[in-house]
Amino acid sequence: MGKQVWKPGNMVYPVPAVLVSAADGEGRTNLITVAWTGTICTNPPMAYISVRPERYSYDMIRSTGQFVINLTTEDMAYATDLCGVKSGRDLDKWQAAGLTPQRASAVDVPLVAESPVNIECQVVKVEELGSHHMFIAEVKAVDIDEKYLDEKGKFHLGKAKPIVYSHGEYYGLGALLGTFGYSVKKAPKNLPAGRKRRGKYGQKRNGAG
Ligand SMILES: Cc1cc2nc3c(=O)[nH]c(=O)nc-3n(C[C@H](O)[C@H](O)[C@H](O)COP(=O)(O)O)c2cc1C
Repeated sequence: MGKQVWKPGNMVYPVPAVLVSAADGEGRTNLITVAWTGTICTNPPMAYISVRPERYSYDMIRSTGQFVINLTTEDMAYATDLCGVKSGRDLDKWQAAGLTPQRASAVDVPLVAESPVNIECQVVKVEELGSHHMFIAEVKAVDIDEKYLDEKGKFHLGKAKPIVYSHGEYYGLGALLGTFGYSVKKAPKNLPAGRKRRGKYGQKRNGAG
């Protein structure tokens, strides 16, 4: 079997499907589902969202220069889809999706209380790319649900059951395959001999399954 060559398009999947909250500065707020989002710089911490100008949320974000990226979970999958197919022009999506607005700490945009992580953003640049305009933003604060912190203060995002979006479909995360750097880590001494395997490049690694 060979490869079919498709016309140019976006096929970087899976990606997150986040709920972006926005406000107009006059008391109106809204939620929009966004998949074109990501981290773009570690220091200073920066993120982006790309939004079509025809979205109701677009003018809000453009005028205030602020938004919140709210990560989504399996429990929030229905709400995530709903906020991506209905417009805030026609209904109150907070109410329709059963989500709770909560005061943010660094921006004048409410965050989604049910979300395990809220990333408060201040726009620093808008790139008018074409169908979508890219809001490049500096992260001003990150809100973490204490439910997912252990007694040592370590955050376990996996416990919140985050979702991803892949070519029109929502998924949970599936099995844990390894942790950062596991490919080059020495197997713990107390592992049974049969579970010590060699990695792709000859180094010992901890058997993952
Ligand atoms: C999974 C998913 C991902 C989406 N990603 C984006 C996106 O990255 N940018 C965008 O402009 N619209 C995106 N949309 C579409 C908007 O969320 C949708 O048009 C929404 O109704 C706009 O809401 P608003 O008019 O209240 O702003 C996405 C929709 C879904 C379901």
